[in-house]
This record gives sequence, C-alpha cells and structure tokens, in this order.
Amino acid sequence: MISGIPGLSNRVVENVFLYIAAIAVFLLALITFLMVYFVIRYRRTKHPEPKDIEGSLWLEITWTVIPTILVLTMFYYGYTGFSILRKVPEGSIKIKVLARQWSWLFEYENGIKVDELKVPVGKPIQLLLTSQDVIHSFYMPAFKIKQDAVPGMVNYLWFQPTEVGTYDVLCAEYCGLQHSSMLTKVIVLPQEEFNRWYQKGAEERVTKIPTGSQLFQEKGCRACHNIDGPPGVGPSLKGLFGKTITVITDGRERPVVADEDYLRRSLLEPNADVVKGFPPIMPSQKGLLTEEEIALIIAYMKGLK
Ligand code: CUA
Repeated sequence: MISGIPGLSNRVVENVFLYIAAIAVFLLALITFLMVYFVIRYRRTKHPEPKDIEGSLWLEITWTVIPTILVLTMFYYGYTGFSILRKVPEGSIKIKVLARQWSWLFEYENGIKVDELKVPVGKPIQLLLTSQDVIHSFYMPAFKIKQDAVPGMVNYLWFQPTEVGTYDVLCAEYCGLQHSSMLTKVIVLPQEEFNRWYQKGAEERVTKIPTGSQLFQEKGCRACHNIDGPPGVGPSLKGLFGKTITVITDGRERPVVADEDYLRRSLLEPNADVVKGFPPIMPSQKGLLTEEEIALIIAYMKGLK
C-alpha cells in the first residue's frame, strides 16, 4: 500500500492544509479558553450588576488587522500552491483521459488505449481530460488531485509520482447509476518496465487491428455488461446470441431473437428495444463506432457462450 509521499503535488496541498488547520486549531483553543474563563470570571455571584463597556479603538484595530493578515497569508499559500498545480512542467508525458458512463479510457501518444493508467516513476505526467457524455470528475486521492472531465472541452491535471505502486482512481462527480463503480487504478512502474510495456503496446498497435474483445473493453461496454456472469446494470451477454428475449418497445412487451440485426440496433439505438427489467440508460454508440468496429463487437458477442 501507500507509504510516504507518492507524488510531488501532495506536499503542496498538504502544506496549505496544515497551515490552515494549525491556525484553526489555535483559534479554537484560544476562543474556547476565553469563553470558559469569562464564564467563571464574570459569573452572576461575583458580578451581580452587568456594566456597559464603551468601544476600544485599539481592540477593534487589533481584531481587524490580525485576521486580515491571517486570511491573506492563507490566500497567498493557497494561490502559490494552486499555481504550481496548474503549471505543467516542460517535457511532461501527455496522456488523454476519456470519461464516460461508467469507465475511464487512457490514450497514449503512440496510440495505446487502456483502461488502467500506467506511468513511469519520477516523470511529470499531464492528463488531458474530457468526457463523452456527462460531467465526471477524475480523482486520485493518493496524489491529492482532482479535476472535472466535461463534454466538449479539455481540462488538464499534472502529477509526478515519486514512488512505485498502485493507487486508486475514482469518479468524484455523480454521473448516473454506476457512478460509484467508475473506478480504476494508476500503476506507477519503474522507468525500464514502463518503457518495455510502452514499446510493446506500440508495436501491437501497428501490427494488429484491435480484436472484438479489446474493443469491448476500450469502448467501455464492460462497465455495465458481464460476459460470463450474472447481469450488471445491463443484461449479461453470456450466451445471448440466438436466444429469444423479452424487450419493451414503445411501452409494449414483445419477444425478440437476439440476432445480428438486434445486436446492431441495440448498439446504435439502445433505447428502442430495452430488455425487460432493465432501465433505458445505455448511451447510443452512433458515431462512436465504425462499421468495422460494430462487426467486430457483434462477432465477439456471438462467441460469448
Ligand atoms: Cu463518472 Cu461519477
């Protein structure tokens, strides 16, 4: 598990946090002490007659100036820390991050696409975030960084891992039914091991067209559809091909044979015939899949016995 400080961004965030927390704890102790002290000191048996106190210029100046300075220093540390988090170092490795209901896809400059982020230790990494559907939020608690992934725009984040290890990635913005399972990992590898993996992926990318199984993973189908077990958010695809199933079309139940036409329609117009017992929430893949990809995915589904 995590030991020490896994990334450079941590120190920046931690320093500001500790600074503000220390001031807050000090003020809490001071105010609590004074409150208790005054309750005892000015209790009714000692001071039966309350007296008005006229204003005190010095006191008012003091309690205006000191908090102002404190708040300004908090702003200063917060802002300089924020600037560091926003300023991506030269020569960072750029990785595109695509968020969608309900999985993550990482795309490297050499074309590798994976659903778990692999990075080398000690190098600055820039993540370019966008979304295919609704607003998601890319959150890596171990590195104390978080940024929204918004459809139609590209946001960014950078971090520099300092320790080899595996850390969690979460979606931190409610994005629908399976939001809570929109999880993945960032795997920090030693430089050489990363290079080997990166090289191998690039070669495979050039020499092979992706298989149906790879597409099934890349396109995020697996987030909702099991291929070998019970149904998830969507129906299980195990042994689906050729089976007669009950669907709801325009509010009416009807039987349908899960043949190639049906599977194709389900990819492009998923909510036209919704399998009975499931919510009509699958995002349409129209424009997101090429004809070749559709054919490969259908062929893959046929093989899921
Ligand atoms: Cu994606 Cu929550």
